[in-house]
Amino acid sequence: MIDFHSHILPGVDDGSKDVKESLRLISMLRRQGVDVVVATPHYYAGNEPPEIFVDRRQKAYEQLSAELPEGSPRILLGAEVEYYEGISSLQGLDMLTFGADKLLLVEMPMRKWSELAIKELKTLSCVKGYTVILAHIERYMRFQNPDVWKRLRSFGILMQVNASFFNGVLTRRKALSMLYKGHINVIGSDCHNVENRPPAIGDSFETIRLKAGEKFLSDFTEYNRSLLFVE
Ligand SMILES: [Fe+2]
Repeated sequence: MIDFHSHILPGVDDGSKDVKESLRLISMLRRQGVDVVVATPHYYAGNEPPEIFVDRRQKAYEQLSAELPEGSPRILLGAEVEYYEGISSLQGLDMLTFGADKLLLVEMPMRKWSELAIKELKTLSCVKGYTVILAHIERYMRFQNPDVWKRLRSFGILMQVNASFFNGVLTRRKALSMLYKGHINVIGSDCHNVENRPPAIGDSFETIRLKAGEKFLSDFTEYNRSLLFVE
């Protein structure tokens, strides 16, 4: 199974602090049935240009790779790109994508999204050819008019939720209902550390298996793999 959102690389952002912690997170993901994990450290355009970020990310990845035990999940390099006004014209955005289809994980602001923001997402998807994935959309639902989601989906934008959305007693029903409707495309652990934000994505896959059935889960996983072009 695939984890589409994680902060497992050492020392790149507010996620894993060192290689030792990264190895623990990866081992937890492995035990939870994850065989492919997308490392998505935070990218803030105001802090650094993409090439500097990619360089830092690469160094962290190489440090980690040298210590990875046999049988660890495969790590793909991505980013969680914070939305800002003007994102659709950022030079070097390609460097922050992952998978063959230019997947771009975008973190939106915690408020009602402006028409400009929606227009920029549309431009990224329909004009620039990115496969935009909105990160942990469950956080933003209460701020948006319900019709926004339909519009965004019509632009080809994909939706990611965190595993906690499936794991929470109060949110599980909503998560499953959205999943059945095809309103959730991918799931991420969004793990940051072993203490208070460890990965718990295995439980959400288990919930899907129990409630939606084995076939549903295997189709979902197959679709997730096709997004990344991995076997
Ligand atoms: Fe994140």
